[in-house]
Amino acid sequence: MPKTRRIWVLADAHIGHVDDGRDGAEWLQLAIDDMCANVQPVDYAINLGDMSHAFTEEQLKTYAKIRGASHIARWYELVGNHDFLSIAPGHYDRWIGCPRYWALRDGNVSFFSLPHERPNAAGLFLPEVEAWLRRAMPAAAGGNVVMAAHSFPYDTVEFSTRVPRCMYPKAAIERFLKDVRVDVWLGGHIHMKPRTTAASCVKGGTTYINCASVSHVYGTKACNSFVLTFTEGSHTLLAQCRHHDAARFIDEQSLAIELPKPYVPGEPVFAPEPLQIPEKYGQMEADEVELFE
Ligand SMILES: [Fe+2]
Repeated sequence: MPKTRRIWVLADAHIGHVDDGRDGAEWLQLAIDDMCANVQPVDYAINLGDMSHAFTEEQLKTYAKIRGASHIARWYELVGNHDFLSIAPGHYDRWIGCPRYWALRDGNVSFFSLPHERPNAAGLFLPEVEAWLRRAMPAAAGGNVVMAAHSFPYDTVEFSTRVPRCMYPKAAIERFLKDVRVDVWLGGHIHMKPRTTAASCVKGGTTYINCASVSHVYGTKACNSFVLTFTEGSHTLLAQCRHHDAARFIDEQSLAIELPKPYVPGEPVFAPEPLQIPEKYGQMEADEVELFE
């Protein structure tokens, strides 16, 4: 039997925010309960950020409690814009405990983290982060490369052309993606109405998947996430969109992605990246983006 690797990818629980009569924590619990009852086994989970709605210690603590009681043993997280202001007081470290920058090598698949860099809705692609990725990614290029990001480059998934929603500087990201191969870009951040098939797209050889959101936050009317399945010896990565409320997969929102290399299984190796990021970026306002550009 070929080995498989099953990964749960979720985003935007927004604990502390109530939508459709339930808090993000309750929606997250509903999703975990569905995974536990119906989608087994899961090797690990990747949470693409916005665990908390208002970056409070209590919200992050609630997340850690829910995560700890889940049946999934390993979790890797990203800072979302709503989590960002919990970094400086140390609440993020204390309750989430996942480093801000990391790489995860799992057989011949490499994941790289791309967190949000400020509390503003528009993300930043920092020169320091770009330098790390340009250093680290060539070694991964013999296998399959996945970006685990909070948000998306301009003009990829639906609504990424909205100025406050995409990542800046746009030109730097475009240049980067021309130079460095990214097979799959996972993100969240954009969740303002029920999902459509435009939440995923293929552009320039990269498959972009908006995995948001695991809660009903801002009118999604559903708890959605993705289940990734890699199969030994296969070029096909199955990315299945889960509708947790209905406890089923949504076929028309799921993808079979053709990978450049057939999957070779291995034991996951997690590597934190101790980047020193100047605080000034976290304080950049929306109208400063143009100067940065
Ligand atoms: Fe969000």
